[in-house]
Amino acid sequence: MIIALDGPSGVGKSTLARALASRLQFSCLDTGALYRCVALSVLLAGVDEANEIDVSKLAQTATIRFAPQNKVFLNGADVTDDIRGARVERIVSVVAAYPRVRAALLEKQREIGSLGNYVVEGRDIGSTVFPNAECKFFLTASLEARTRRRLLQNQEKQRGSVDEQEVRNMLAKRDATDATREASPLVCPSDAVRIDTSDKTFEEVLTLILNHVYE
Ligand code: CDP
Repeated sequence: MIIALDGPSGVGKSTLARALASRLQFSCLDTGALYRCVALSVLLAGVDEANEIDVSKLAQTATIRFAPQNKVFLNGADVTDDIRGARVERIVSVVAAYPRVRAALLEKQREIGSLGNYVVEGRDIGSTVFPNAECKFFLTASLEARTRRRLLQNQEKQRGSVDEQEVRNMLAKRDATDATREASPLVCPSDAVRIDTSDKTFEEVLTLILNHVYE
């Protein structure tokens, strides 16, 4: 069984996906981490992110592995923290917009999802990756609410920017790139349950989602 959780940055998807997976005893797939790994490969290889062909080659050849405790390995190296850095944030939406990159990662996501029961979080899970998912949710929140959450997260984890204006601008820019790209843009699937989380607590959203799953 697949539960698809889509929505823009900073809406709380990752935390909710993990909590949901743990309640249901499902595995959890953070598809953003795959795109972040490609962005990090680009930086490490010194490739120009504007060169779609070179970037796509990296996406096709990268070995990405998920390990316990939400650890992510890229070509054998632990990149769990590196993929959340500011340099990756700046280019991840650019590389994620390339159709060849998306095609390379599509296969990988379907391969992982076929291994069992998964909560899969991303931007195009219910629309493109798993259009037949049993449950689909699309989370939204105002830019202000998402900026507040991301700031808090960066402060707690001591990574990424802690400058409010910079965080707001980065989220807005990434949203615009994700929503306007041609390949699998960020859209709410017509059969998804849409939840505005701006004024809801984490527990309230989790309960809402669980109620739908048990329906
Ligand atoms: O953690 P946050 O919500 O900020 O981002 P993420 O889920 O780690 O995704 C990082 C970027 O990867 C997004 O801004 C998208 O550009 C891209 N992405 C995508 O295009 N499709 C997905 N299924 C997941 C992420």
